[in-house]
Amino acid sequence: MGVIELCNISSICIGRAKPSSLIEGNRRRRITCMASSVSVQEEESHQQKQGVNGGSFIRTHLLKLSPYQPILPFEVLSTRLGRKPEDIVKLDANENPYGPPPEVNEALGAMKFPYIYPDPESRTLRAALAEDSGLESEYILAGCGADELIDLIMRCVLDPGDKIVDCPPTFTMYEFDAAVNGAGVIKVPRNPDFSLDVERIAEVVEREKPKCIFLTSPNNPDGRFSWTKSRIWSFSTEYY
Ligand SMILES: Cc1ncc(COP(=O)(O)O)c(C=O)c1O
Repeated sequence: MGVIELCNISSICIGRAKPSSLIEGNRRRRITCMASSVSVQEEESHQQKQGVNGGSFIRTHLLKLSPYQPILPFEVLSTRLGRKPEDIVKLDANENPYGPPPEVNEALGAMKFPYIYPDPESRTLRAALAEDSGLESEYILAGCGADELIDLIMRCVLDPGDKIVDCPPTFTMYEFDAAVNGAGVIKVPRNPDFSLDVERIAEVVEREKPKCIFLTSPNNPDGRFSWTKSRIWSFSTEYY
């Protein structure tokens, strides 16, 4: 029987093992799921002898990825700092320190069927966004946060070997998601005042024909607004 083992969250081993186990120690977290008649230790030495390990299953470009450093959740931060969550103003992941408006809490508390999957096409939300933006709802995609949408865009358009343009310092997920999809990242660093180096972007676009250009507005970490929609439109019609 197969087993997927998550060690330290950043590495995954696939092999065969006995009963489900959860081992905590030396701050390393090791989770083994599913069952077979061979113990994990026996299997590991078997794999070493055979030269078989997770590396032979996992796509090679993923093995080369540096682990993503996620933020600490509120409860962990609170324990580490020895402060109550209410006394911490957390700004390191672009969260809104004021929380949602009371109407949102009320609406969430009043959900009639919270145990039923929600509408996968987010019809009501998209209709409201369509009314607000003037776009037709067929052109609007709702996701679980911008991260999911960035991931979906890259999965839809990038073949291994394609390229994206990234303008650091900026949100690091563009680079990470590109690497997950086996795409190359062309970096065009921002100017010292965080504005975009438009001439270099144009040069790179003309030469490399990247599939995606990420022009974050407002940018993370500086909050600067980049281009207007019409400027992006004229740039894209000029070069593509
Ligand atoms: C520029 C930018 N895009 C997207 C995200 C992710 O947003 P979400 O929490 O909606 O997934 C962040 C989060 O910090 C961000 O800074």
